[in-house]
Amino acid sequence: MINTERWNITSNSDERKTVIEEAVAVLKAGNTVAFPTETVYGLGADATNEIAVAKIFKAKGRPQDNPLIAHVATKDQLKQLTTTYPQYVDKLIDHFAPGPITFVLPSNGVCAKNVTAGLDTVGIRIPNHPVAQHLLQQANLPLAAPSANLSGKPSPTTADHVWDDLNGKIAGLLDDGPTGVGVESTVVDCTGEVPMILRPGGVTKEQLEEVVGKLAQDSAIVDKLDKPKSPGMKYRHYSPELPLLLVEGDTAYMQKQINLKRETYGRVGVLASNRMAKQLTADEIIPLGDHINDIASHLYDGLRTFKQGHVNIILCEAFEKKEIGVAVMNRLEKAASSYLKEK
Ligand code: TXA
Ligand code: MG
Repeated sequence: MINTERWNITSNSDERKTVIEEAVAVLKAGNTVAFPTETVYGLGADATNEIAVAKIFKAKGRPQDNPLIAHVATKDQLKQLTTTYPQYVDKLIDHFAPGPITFVLPSNGVCAKNVTAGLDTVGIRIPNHPVAQHLLQQANLPLAAPSANLSGKPSPTTADHVWDDLNGKIAGLLDDGPTGVGVESTVVDCTGEVPMILRPGGVTKEQLEEVVGKLAQDSAIVDKLDKPKSPGMKYRHYSPELPLLLVEGDTAYMQKQINLKRETYGRVGVLASNRMAKQLTADEIIPLGDHINDIASHLYDGLRTFKQGHVNIILCEAFEKKEIGVAVMNRLEKAASSYLKEK
């Protein structure tokens, strides 16, 4: 057990400055600090310090072959971690960075080798959350930061989620409330002739296509039998403690499935859009919102809210696979043990 310092970010700019300085000192001493980004909370450490980075893997229980994303404050700092890259990358950076997108680029070896898990590429992201930006600017270091959850659990979208998973395992936590986007960044492989989406996320395929035109997508995102090109995508991520079933159909079909599952499982929990939730009867119902952006924002909190003992199974509405719904369904399909379809 280590003592985990928890700092509150307040609206007072002097207090904010002091807290960020304390967090930077902890990072520079080679220790881990969790911080908010616009997608999910990240667990940061100095990306150039192999020993510091090893502490991230240990705290999360993360498999060693899964590379981390290096976070930087600016485009200039991004360039300091890579070699030459295709022209379309500048276009992507100018349009989407800072923001919820990660560029996989050729690594120049500045990041410690456990950041890239031995690959010759490095994932780099410029977050646009004000606290992440402030921390990165003040530290003036690239910070390796995976999502700040225990490996296999849903990513944390509040400081309490981080605390539940990592209190006693990390040196610090910057608490600035809920994150916003709610699903992780879009990971784009930028080493080929056209960019390839390895993980759908906060920046949508539609938005990317508008800027670069031609775009590839890892076939494993569409066909679950294919081997994913991004190491992290092969794990059964985001699974809550309970069995999760995805349900594709109208409200009546969902209600029928709830009734059926009640016979075998007893207590049933449901995650659904507000519009469906208000017409359902179940033991615990969590409405996620109506717009797909709100659903993305509340999804992981919803998955974490159901606890063993309160309900014995979770049924979740299947959402349309467009815009950020592609990322939402990608995470849900990884977490689900089966998929029930009306037709
Ligand atoms: O929104 C996010 O991306 C959050 C916040 C904290 O920035 N971070 C995050 O990190 O989701 P993590 O470690 O949970 O997911 C990183 C993903 C993994 O699937 C990993 O395999 C992939 O990015 N990745 C990292 N470097 C890569 C590389 N060089 N080549 C291919 N995939 C890579
Ligand atoms: Mg993660």
